[in-house]
Amino acid sequence: MSLSPLPVDARSTDRAREVFVPLPRRYDRLADVLSFGQNARWRRAMVTAATADDPARVLDVATGTAGVALQLAERSRAEVVGVDISEEMLATGRQRVADAGQDDRVSLQVADADALPFDDASFDALTFTYLLRYVPDPAATLRELARVVEPGGRIASLEFHVPPNPVWCAAWVGYTRLLLPALGGLLGGRGWWRVGAFLGPNIDRHYARFPLDRHVDLWHEAGIVDVEVELMSLGGGVVMSGRRGG
Ligand SMILES: C[S@@+](CC[C@H](N)C(=O)[O-])C[C@H]1O[C@@H](n2cnc3c(N)ncnc32)[C@H](O)[C@@H]1O
Repeated sequence: MSLSPLPVDARSTDRAREVFVPLPRRYDRLADVLSFGQNARWRRAMVTAATADDPARVLDVATGTAGVALQLAERSRAEVVGVDISEEMLATGRQRVADAGQDDRVSLQVADADALPFDDASFDALTFTYLLRYVPDPAATLRELARVVEPGGRIASLEFHVPPNPVWCAAWVGYTRLLLPALGGLLGGRGWWRVGAFLGPNIDRHYARFPLDRHVDLWHEAGIVDVEVELMSLGGGVVMSGRRGG
């Protein structure tokens, strides 16, 4: 494995695969570090938004090690399908699903968010987490996600964000540029050091290109209505939700 930092711009499926290959083991611990210990709370808020209408079939895109998929199964009566481009992440996810005794409710498969192997309107809710920074064209990805949700179905997402308050923003920059790579390296070695060093600049670049208002526009352009945005933890995370329009 290379010791050089990951390229800040990871907007291709190959790059995204490269980022996540070394991570499945103890991924959730890393996610907690990367989110200042807030990932679980953010995730709960997103799952609450996605399951508010008691869906029967939910798709979790970029499911990784199935943390969100499992929570969807635990907190609703839905059958859950999780998809991800990384077979390595899914392998850990399958083990977690089996350990949780949820094989009959949660199934995982390799698929690209930009070309989902499902018919139109085949799910009645959809979640996606930490995805849009890794795709080449977020507008096209959102259209593809909305396509597989039935009209009226809920769509909810979770992503990192840059705190808007200048004081918290300065603290966030210090954390992401210095502490995060160090903590990543300490907890998980070279692979996590690279991701720790990559993440802050990658988040910055994403929002420079697509400020939050632009995200809302992209959701609308994809045919998603009633779009709500909730900044979490002083703006370090953002949960978005809406419904596929009729
Ligand atoms: C930071 S992880 C998040 C995993 C999971 N959603 C969670 O919150 O624990 C991002 C995931 O996005 C996946 N990913 C990146 N680009 C993708 C794409 N085009 N289609 C599907 N999954 C993708 C990666 O493989 C990785 O597992």
